[in-house]
Amino acid sequence: MKKKFKEATGNTLAPLRPHLKWLVVGFAVFISFGSIYYTNSLVDQIRVREQRQIEIYASSLEFLANESENVNFFLILDEIVAANNSIPVILTDESENPEDYRNLDRVDKIDSEDQRNSFLKKEIELMKEDHPPIEVTLKDDQDNIYGYKYIFYKNSFLLSQLKFYPYIQLSVIALFGIITFLVLNYMRRVEQDRVWVGLAKETAHQLGTPLSSLMAWSEYFKGLYKDQQDVLIEFDKDVDRLKVITDRFSSIGSEPQLTMMNIADVIDEIVIYLQKRLSTKITITVSAFPNRDIGALINQSLFAWVIENLCKNAADAMDGKGSIHISILKANEGRIAVDVQDTGKGISKSKIKNVFRPGYTTKKRGWGLGLTLAQRIIEQYHSGKIFVKQSEINKGTTFRIYLNG
Ligand SMILES: Nc1ncnc2c1ncn2[C@@H]1O[C@H](COP(=O)(O)OP(=O)(O)OP(=O)(O)O)[C@@H](O)[C@H]1O
Ligand SMILES: [Mg+2]
Repeated sequence: MKKKFKEATGNTLAPLRPHLKWLVVGFAVFISFGSIYYTNSLVDQIRVREQRQIEIYASSLEFLANESENVNFFLILDEIVAANNSIPVILTDESENPEDYRNLDRVDKIDSEDQRNSFLKKEIELMKEDHPPIEVTLKDDQDNIYGYKYIFYKNSFLLSQLKFYPYIQLSVIALFGIITFLVLNYMRRVEQDRVWVGLAKETAHQLGTPLSSLMAWSEYFKGLYKDQQDVLIEFDKDVDRLKVITDRFSSIGSEPQLTMMNIADVIDEIVIYLQKRLSTKITITVSAFPNRDIGALINQSLFAWVIENLCKNAADAMDGKGSIHISILKANEGRIAVDVQDTGKGISKSKIKNVFRPGYTTKKRGWGLGLTLAQRIIEQYHSGKIFVKQSEINKGTTFRIYLNG
């Protein structure tokens, strides 16, 4: 039964998730490049079409100018560009003096002649950077060249906009994607919270009833079997342990109270309890720096749960033989650091990021929940931090906890 659960939630599923992530990222990159490529090809097509259009204007202009006498260029330009209501063009003489223009809305708004001229000249410079001007050759009846005109032009507003379109579009999609991701992540967390809290509350509630009746039975037996007091003391110890467990579940199921406590004393008490239950070949030592007088804001029963989980993991990693050292020290900004160091088999660098993941376990009979729970207790209930400070294969691992002092 236990094994089945592990397979359903642990190792077998975990490696799939990174693949899925890369699949989504790959798909997003494919869509982005696809979209940019497609729009760029559209831009190219429109650019070629606009170029063709301008060339047709130029040849028509040349043709008309050379066909009839007394040509009025402005009139011709008017007629030719009537069909063009989007490509900005400027017609100039040989010395690039503007003679007429079309589709330059900003020029129309300028009142002064001088300003308009200088604006057009600047515009001509800009247009030159975009495309070389088209030359219109003016010939008389005998085919003698008597002058030139130039048509300057730039991309239409539509074309300029279209160039930026995929980037704007992708930015909007990316923003939307990020917001969706954050909202979904938040919702997932809220849901997980509810499961944790609900399950813990229900467990505490269910344990409550048999526990009170066990306590009543203990009193009853104490009166009945006066010669069996030793047994009943052990019985009471187990009942007390059950009380502690119930208390832990009920603390996790509600907003736990934090109290300022001497952390060295609290840890000593946990160590005494653990030492009795772990193999005799495992020694646990505690040190405090600069002295034992270090207070931390903790919920005692939840914090004890964390230390127990870390020490049990350490004992598992040492295969029942080795030493665990817990050091307490005053860190910066009023924080308290608690290091749990073992001489076990260590965690490889690539696995370190997995250890806090729910369901991640390398043990035959593990649930992969010990560190998830520890992280939840430290980070959510104590506003602290827990992480792998250091680990080396076959040398040992150190977990660090930060608490608020
Ligand atoms: N001190 C340690 N040394 C080496 N590996 C460790 C240590 N602590 C944790 N690990 C690795 O991290 C994994 C996850 O630990 P966690 O406590 O979350 O689950 P578990 O111990 O496997 O199962 P359980 O839910 O019963 O605690 C372990 O299976 C182990 O591979
Ligand atoms: Mg564990």
